[in-house]
Amino acid sequence: MFGLHPERTSAASVTITNGSDWLDTASRPIQANSGNILKVGSTYYWYGEHAVSGKFDSVNVYTSTDLKNWTFSNAILTKDSATELASSKIERPKVIYNASTKQYVLWAHYENGTDYNLGRVAVATSSTPNGNFTYEGSFRPLDYESRDMTVFVDTDGTGYLVTASRKNGGANDTMAIFKMNASYTGVESFVGWQFENAYREAPAVVKKGNRYYLFTSQAAGWYPNQGAYATASSMTGTWSALTPYGNPSAFGSQIHDIATITGDSTTSYMYMGDRWNPLHLGEHKHIWLPLTLNDSNGTASLEWYKEWNIDAVTGTVTPPSLVNHAQGKTAAAISTASGSSASHVNDGNYQTSWAASSNTWPAWWQVDFGAPKTITEIDISWFMYKGSEGYYKYKIEISNDGINYSTLDRTSNTTYGFTTDAVHFTARYVRINMVNAVLWNNPGNWYTPTLHEVKMLGPATPDATNYSRFSSFNYPDRCERLTCTGFAVPRRPGPG
Ligand code: DGJ
Repeated sequence: MFGLHPERTSAASVTITNGSDWLDTASRPIQANSGNILKVGSTYYWYGEHAVSGKFDSVNVYTSTDLKNWTFSNAILTKDSATELASSKIERPKVIYNASTKQYVLWAHYENGTDYNLGRVAVATSSTPNGNFTYEGSFRPLDYESRDMTVFVDTDGTGYLVTASRKNGGANDTMAIFKMNASYTGVESFVGWQFENAYREAPAVVKKGNRYYLFTSQAAGWYPNQGAYATASSMTGTWSALTPYGNPSAFGSQIHDIATITGDSTTSYMYMGDRWNPLHLGEHKHIWLPLTLNDSNGTASLEWYKEWNIDAVTGTVTPPSLVNHAQGKTAAAISTASGSSASHVNDGNYQTSWAASSNTWPAWWQVDFGAPKTITEIDISWFMYKGSEGYYKYKIEISNDGINYSTLDRTSNTTYGFTTDAVHFTARYVRINMVNAVLWNNPGNWYTPTLHEVKMLGPATPDATNYSRFSSFNYPDRCERLTCTGFAVPRRPGPG
């Protein structure tokens, strides 16, 4: 029968793949960091910054109808748009629409090209979402310092600026909220301070039902860190205390926005994060994850998915069907500090952790599935300490008898905070052998071996081939990114 199901206006469910390089429809790298997404009609506009050698080059916009295939549309603001942009920093650009003036308004963090001392916002306007924006200038809102920032348009049409400012002694010590003027081209009043002396950065605001969520990161330069959020029933507060979400490194990212995907059957929320490479900023990656908001009890939760699906027409999000086989299984470790527990590593809670009883390296943590399981992905949430973020040299060791182990060598790892390894094996025991940690800003490793969470994902049913005595990888050719030594390394003499 015709008429029951209106014709779809764009593609169906698409797969978002995290951790890879994203290309536009012309096969060029997508250059759009720390921005936001705006929907106009059935088209999504994705705005973001492109920096070259640490300096502002352009704010770019890409368009899509499915949130996966993005076509470069325009460089809406460039280093040639105004004299003061020629050698500058423009960070965290956000575009909002003003329904009264019918103008698209771009806000961003503005600095000169050499340091972060100005602490200003920049504003530009356009009558179309992808036109050449007219630069309106930069300023300190009501003379307050402003660095990492976001903007938010409330359902009553009021615009807000939320920004990392200075209340007491330090740059970025406290966040400030301002109400914008009617045209969204400036601020009209100071609303209040938030998170005094908490040094929060990277604000992002989303509203669900009657609840407002304000997400932030810690201030840790370009290093990933623990995200946290507060909630309120009004943008003017009172805001709750900060609650952590996701893992201690925000899965190796720093938040820049929450996209609201309003479909014809449901509304979904999407975490948008920047995975910076602190030593090579040009190697930036986009991390997009479904964000679960429970507006009745005011909670938010973020889980890692290497791949997940979204349908931009219906708004439906589909996570992968992989099972975390480690969850709740028998855990053991070389030693355990008092107050911690080996079981904290596979309890599904990113905030709890296991620590060894001393800072002796190497150290190991192990899980026994009770029966062989097929594992295709291992996600490790490592301990981090702001200012001395450490990457871990480690090995993944697998066994079917708890005696003979095969080793996947990850001692060449240099990724901080969160590692996700594509593997493919069937085994009963998996051991994380922490060989050493290398600390940024502090080459002498003073860490005590500590793990927050290890997830071992795979299909619900193990591969058909089972090994009574595990001695090699089932699929050595699938050991992507890993050096597979592949054959039994006895830990102690085997029986007989
Ligand atoms: C942390 C901020 O969140 C980033 O946007 C950027 O400004 C860096 N600091 C610069 O070090």
